[in-house]
Amino acid sequence: MNITQVLEKKIDESKQGERLSIVDNPKGSKKMYIESYGCQMNFSDSEIVASILTKEGFSTTQDINEADLVFVNTCSIREKAELTVRKRLEFYNSIKKDKNPGMIVGVLGCMAERLKEKFLEEEKLVDLVIGPDAYRDLPNLLKQVDDGRKAVNVFLSKEETYADISPVRLGGNGVTAFVSITRGCDNMCTFCVVPFTRGRERSRNPESIVNECKQLIKDGYKEVTLLGQNVDSYLWYGGGAKKDFKKATKDAQENSVSFANLLEMVAEVGSKLRIRFSTSNPQDMTLDVIQVMKKYNNICNYIHLPVQSGSDRILSKMNRGYTRGKYITLIDNIKNTIPDCSISMDMITGFCSETEQDHQETLSLMDYVKYEYGYMFKYSERPNTTAERKFEDDIPNDVKQRRLAEIIEKQQVHSLLHMKEKIGETFEVLVEGTSKKSEEKLYGRTTHNSAVVFPKENYKKGDYVMVEIEECTSATLLGKAI
Ligand code: 5AD
Ligand code: SF4
Repeated sequence: MNITQVLEKKIDESKQGERLSIVDNPKGSKKMYIESYGCQMNFSDSEIVASILTKEGFSTTQDINEADLVFVNTCSIREKAELTVRKRLEFYNSIKKDKNPGMIVGVLGCMAERLKEKFLEEEKLVDLVIGPDAYRDLPNLLKQVDDGRKAVNVFLSKEETYADISPVRLGGNGVTAFVSITRGCDNMCTFCVVPFTRGRERSRNPESIVNECKQLIKDGYKEVTLLGQNVDSYLWYGGGAKKDFKKATKDAQENSVSFANLLEMVAEVGSKLRIRFSTSNPQDMTLDVIQVMKKYNNICNYIHLPVQSGSDRILSKMNRGYTRGKYITLIDNIKNTIPDCSISMDMITGFCSETEQDHQETLSLMDYVKYEYGYMFKYSERPNTTAERKFEDDIPNDVKQRRLAEIIEKQQVHSLLHMKEKIGETFEVLVEGTSKKSEEKLYGRTTHNSAVVFPKENYKKGDYVMVEIEECTSATLLGKAI
């Protein structure tokens, strides 16, 4: 498999969804089956939903045939993501008809928020539609369904962060966990549906974040990923949407906590707790974040920094809030402060009016940065976004496809370059489990987020192991413990 295929597979896997379950499954309790699609935030939200329903007497199951309740946590980011969910709904329908007539079907997340009541008209089998800020209302909605009514709650909140709800860790490895720190997004990139499906940006109380991390250490976890649509925009001043910060009292403003402050608080929780964060945003990332990363060894040297395009004209049309020049300055600052920081990106190709010249600028930016990894997409028009309302989706599909192939090919060269550079070096690897290909080998990741496989010997999941890299495939470093 070459890197192009690997990258496509990675993207595909993120779209395929995952069945999530916990082992605890007491006899006689009602059973829920949750499937999640899309971003890490959705997976994290499913853990909140599981926590709320556990209190209602549900346990989880991986067998849809025995489920009383089937939930699908959905993604709207591209049309293809929505089509995947529609296909799953067809599958649930067949299960309901043939094997499990009593099961309740609920749609959660971004598609629920986007389509609201329309979902009930379009998909007759759906009993419950619930947006990302309404999960606390699940017990009430389930009662409505029990009473024979269809139930909908798509209320978007300015305050909800589920700060007090301890997520039930689903289907994880017991070593790495997601911790949500912000919800929503106020950036309004013209191509993006997220501000409409996830609402206004708001930050979670830092104390609850630190406490969750402390509890994770007690439970044996070794790594957390702080999650938000735009983590750099984190700002705690006592609650509320970020846009209302100016209305807060002077005292609240002076005692506010920024993302750099929060990162430092979490880094102090324990030196053996590794910290990652995602997603960063070039227009909001500040130098003090990079300084905190440099200061703490337990903050991983890896930044996912979506760029979307290398052309100033397209960046402006996308309302990204930075220019190519500003982005390059940020990259230079990161590299000057943390020379071995690994950087990945998201890129959209074929956005409205994109010319060959714009495309060449994207390719030349990639040559400048030489990203470690990349997640690359063809532009997909989303209903009600500014791009849909104001611009024409005028790049033919074959042109989008060809440009996508060109950026993927370039990324393949850069990724391989970075892999090969690492041969002969030694890295600390946090072991996350056994290699998928061999029971005799362990799998883990370096601070740079590179996957490493090495012979097991006496090491085990959760260990930090120094591994010398001997060779690489296109996506994995291979080595031995030293
Ligand atoms: N079409 C294609 N890709 C998109 N993304 C967001 N919206 C769209 C869209 N309408 C991509 C961006 C973002 C990633 C999560 O998904 O690259 O960073
Ligand atoms: Fe969407 Fe832009 Fe917000 Fe990212 S920063 S979630 S791309 S609106």
